[in-house]
Amino acid sequence: MKRIILSALIALALYPSAYAQMKVEVNIDSDITDGQVIPKEIYGQFAEHLGSCIYGGLWVGPESDIPNINGYRTDVLEALKTLKVPVMRWPGGCFADEYHWTDGIGPRENRPRMVNSNWGGTVEDNSFGTHEFLNLCEMLGCEPYISGNVGSGTVEELAKWVEYMTAPDGPMAKLRAENGRKEPWRVKYLGVGNESWGCGGNMVPEYYSHLYRRYQTYCRNFGGNTLYKVASGASDYDYNWTEVLMKNVGGLMNGLSLHYYTVKGWDGSKGSATEFNAEEYYNTLGKAVEVESVIKRHIEIMDRYDPDCRIDLLLDEWGTWFDVEPGTNPGHLFQQNSMRDAMVAALSFNIFHKYTRRLKMANIAQIANVLQSMVLTRGDKMVLTPTYHVFRMYNVHQDAIYLPFTCNSGTFTDGNGRECPLIDATASRNAEGIINVTITNTDLENEAEVILTLASDGKPEIFGEILTSEDIQAHNTFESPETVKPMTFNDFKSKDGRITVKMPAKSIVNLSIR
Ligand code: AHR
Repeated sequence: MKRIILSALIALALYPSAYAQMKVEVNIDSDITDGQVIPKEIYGQFAEHLGSCIYGGLWVGPESDIPNINGYRTDVLEALKTLKVPVMRWPGGCFADEYHWTDGIGPRENRPRMVNSNWGGTVEDNSFGTHEFLNLCEMLGCEPYISGNVGSGTVEELAKWVEYMTAPDGPMAKLRAENGRKEPWRVKYLGVGNESWGCGGNMVPEYYSHLYRRYQTYCRNFGGNTLYKVASGASDYDYNWTEVLMKNVGGLMNGLSLHYYTVKGWDGSKGSATEFNAEEYYNTLGKAVEVESVIKRHIEIMDRYDPDCRIDLLLDEWGTWFDVEPGTNPGHLFQQNSMRDAMVAALSFNIFHKYTRRLKMANIAQIANVLQSMVLTRGDKMVLTPTYHVFRMYNVHQDAIYLPFTCNSGTFTDGNGRECPLIDATASRNAEGIINVTITNTDLENEAEVILTLASDGKPEIFGEILTSEDIQAHNTFESPETVKPMTFNDFKSKDGRITVKMPAKSIVNLSIR
C-alpha cells in the first residue's frame, strides 16, 4: 500500500520540462533602512571528533610532514580564513556527551587515549583538546561554541571546564597557566548537552529540561566573560520538545537549538553523494527547503512563550547526509560534495536569511571530511568543495541588512509533494552601501532570464560571480580539484534601474552592486 502511494506521488511530481524559457522578475526593496541584520553566525561551522574532521582534517600535529602551523594544517587554515568563519562548534555532536575535557589538557604525550565509540570505534590520542581548539578559534578570529557533556558528565566537570577556559584566577586558572596559557580565553557560546533526546542520553524533554536548569546554574561568568547558554533542542519535526523546553526552561537559556538534516533516512541507503538522477536531485532540494516550514513551526511555539525574542533559535546542525564514499569506514561519514550540495546550501541560506528575527545561528555539519564539508583532505592534499564556494560567495551577506523582495518564479513539486522555487534569491546591503543579490536557478535544463529591479536607478557598477557546472553531479576530487569553482560572470545588462540577468541552468550567481 505504502509503495502504491509513493509511486502515485512520484507520478505527480512536476519537474521542469526541457526547453521551457523562464522569465522571472525580482523586485528588491533596496532602500529599506530599518531592516533586520543577517547575523554572521548564520554562516557558522561545526567540528566534531568524527572520522577525519579533527585528526587529518584540521589537525596533523606539529611533527607532521604535512605543512602546518603549530599542528594545524596550513592549507585548511588559509581556506577557512577566506571563508570568514564566525563561530565554530566543538567537540560534538554525539561525541560531546562522552568527552571528558581533562583528558585533553597537559603535555600531549601524557594524555590518555580513548575509544570514539559513537563514530567507528576509532582510538584517539586526545592530542586535540581545549587549548588546541580555542587557539584555533583565535587564529581564525571566530567565536568558540563549546558543547558540554551532560549525558555522561557531571555538573562539577562542566562547571570546572568553564572555569578552566574563562577564569582569570583561581585553581583552574592556575592549572591552565601550568599548561601554557595564562590569559583566559573568551568563550561565549556554551551548549548544555547535545541531542539529549538521543545520543546525548535518550531523555524525555521534561527530564532534560530539569537537568538543564541544574547544569546551567553552575556554569558561571568569570572575569569579563559572559556565557550565552544553549539548551539542546529538537530534531526536525519534534515540536513537543520545543514546547516543553520553552515552558520549563524559559529565560534560563539564551538559545535553543534545532537539528535538521537533508537525509533520506537513518537506516539503509541514503543515496550516493555523486551518483543520482534528476528525481533524486529534485527530492533532495525539496527536503532541503522543507526546513522553512520546520523553522516556522518551532518559531511559532517560541513566539507564544517569548514574544519579545529573548531566546534565540540556533540551527546548530544542518546539511546533507548521504551514503559514505565506497570503501570508507561507515562510522566516519565521509561523503563527496557535488553541485547538488551547493544548491542545497544556497537555498538553505536564502531561507535562513528570512527568519533572523529569531534564528541567530546555523552551523553546517561539518567543517572537514564529514557530511556536507567545506574541505576534503587526503594526506597532504586538500580540495575545496562546491559547498565551500557557496559559503565564500555568500559571506558578503554576513552582518548586512536583509532586503525584502518579491519574486514571481514558478515552482516544481518534488516526488513527495514538496514545492521548491525554480528561481530563488536573497539580497542584502552592507555597511558600505553595496547591495549583494544572490540568485539561484535550480532547474537542471532551462536557463532563465531574471529581471532585477532595485529601488534606485542610475548606472551602478556591478561585479558578477557564478558557480555552475555542465553536470549536476560534478564535484572536486584530489585528482581534479577545480572541476567546480566560481568564475567571473558578465551575462547581465543594466538599464534604467533594471538588471537583466541570464541565469544558466543549475547555477548560483552573486551580483555585487555599487
Ligand atoms: O553530525 C553528525 C551527528 O549528527 C552529530 O554527532 C549528532 O549530533 C547528529 O545526530
